[in-house]
Amino acid sequence: MAAKTEDFWTHIQAEVMDKAKGASGEATSCGIEHAENPCAIVIFGATGDLTARMLLPAMCRLMRYGAMPDNFAIIGASRTELSSEAFRERMRGALTEEGQEYEYLETFGDLAKRLFYCHVQFDDPSSFKGLADCLQEKDKEFGLGGNRVFYLAVPPEAYEDISRGLGEAGLSRSEGNGSFARMVVEKPFGHDLASAQKLDRVLHKSFDEDQIFRIDHYLAKETVQNIMIFRFANSIFEPMWNRDFIESVRITAVESLGVEHRAGYYDHAGVLRDMFQNHMMQLLSLSAMEPPSAFEGNMIRDEKSKVFRSLRPFSEETLARHLVLGQYTSGSIEGHKVPAYLDEPGVAADSRTPTFAAMKVFIDNWRWHGVPFYVTSGKRLAAKRTEIVVKFREVPCSMFGRQLGDQISGNTLTLGIQPREEISLTFQTKMPGPKVCLRSVLMNFDYNQGVTGPFLEAYDKVLLDCMLGDHTLFWRQDGVNLCWSFLAPALEAADSARKDDLLSFYRAGSWGPQEVRRLMEGAKG
Ligand code: BG6
Repeated sequence: MAAKTEDFWTHIQAEVMDKAKGASGEATSCGIEHAENPCAIVIFGATGDLTARMLLPAMCRLMRYGAMPDNFAIIGASRTELSSEAFRERMRGALTEEGQEYEYLETFGDLAKRLFYCHVQFDDPSSFKGLADCLQEKDKEFGLGGNRVFYLAVPPEAYEDISRGLGEAGLSRSEGNGSFARMVVEKPFGHDLASAQKLDRVLHKSFDEDQIFRIDHYLAKETVQNIMIFRFANSIFEPMWNRDFIESVRITAVESLGVEHRAGYYDHAGVLRDMFQNHMMQLLSLSAMEPPSAFEGNMIRDEKSKVFRSLRPFSEETLARHLVLGQYTSGSIEGHKVPAYLDEPGVAADSRTPTFAAMKVFIDNWRWHGVPFYVTSGKRLAAKRTEIVVKFREVPCSMFGRQLGDQISGNTLTLGIQPREEISLTFQTKMPGPKVCLRSVLMNFDYNQGVTGPFLEAYDKVLLDCMLGDHTLFWRQDGVNLCWSFLAPALEAADSARKDDLLSFYRAGSWGPQEVRRLMEGAKG
């Protein structure tokens, strides 16, 4: 009998250890999908910064991991006149520049054999004929099956010309042999609802919705992808993931960087268009959405759209109480002096563009009614930190009142997105000792613990998913429109004459304007 009991416990323990292998420090890896279908990848704006800094390194990594299709070709397409050879040399130079990993170069040798250049004048339809000829030639040479991914690494003003040019040259349609043509678009998707809808109409003249991949690089972050896994692959959290147990949710993505060399764009966009309309809304929807019935692109995006539709619209009155806008003044970060936003090169001297925003948002549905979501993002703050903090309610009544007073703080669950990729939970324990004393302790899981890779950067994942035709991590137009509608009153206020009343200032290197405290008042509404 004793032996049997022992067997039972040994079995249970072995099962637990087996399940927790990754967490116990034993190295595990997840593998990588291989893009089966051959394809041509055409990068518009290939001479720009994004190609050398992000796209080519991403393809080098994908090649090293064996994820690129067996047959592929990359065609840089831009307004600059260049030969393929000169383009390759330029890219090789960029990859060896300071900051790029030397190891890319090995892979780049192989990649360069499939790297070409085609001069395209975006506003000249006949130019696209030249691109079509080039594609046909590479199709034959590399056996690409007529499959094409068009990546728009160009300013949004060029989207319309390129999309029209591709359509008129017959490049946006499948060649009827089951081949695909896909279009990859970077944000910004318009600067308000009307312009987003206009852009969408233009793209749809040449491409159908399922051919369009709208990138949000936050969605491709490992820890952002993990939000859904954490919520829907664990049975212990989901029953508590609602207004009965959760007091508030704090979603923060702040950074210590300023506008860098992007003032021309940023001074028109500001933080609401730059971070809220895309990344912050995605983090909010992932935190709040209902479980889709399957892990499938459209089902997931349906659930996100339901969250966007349930956002309580700002009124004149709530805008004043639930929105704080800020702009940084000079200060110091990690011991270095940094200039005020107004002194950054390229920023208008009288600019009132917000570089910080915090808003209190309510989701009016059964699950979340009355639970405030505090959504905050800003530049030039004390540190880079992206996280989702779920604050659970306090215990309904304290039985420790006599010993400890009435206050016992609620449990807090933190999903650390970056730079700390971790999940942590605070809970109360008894402090060891003769008296009854409470202490809050932290249980912590390091997301990368015990994993050997391969690790995909955001752009690697985005490119791979486009080649695989998986829409899960991309925006669908209805979501884009719903978010622009929700943000419209905040954008109008920030753009209008009222901006002076709304805008507060904060010192670079601080944690934002003092006015943020106002959001915490009257938590219920
Ligand atoms: C970009 C914004 O989309 O995201 C930038 O345009 C911002 O202003 C960046 O700095 C933040 O991304 P990450 O991945 O560094 O958090």
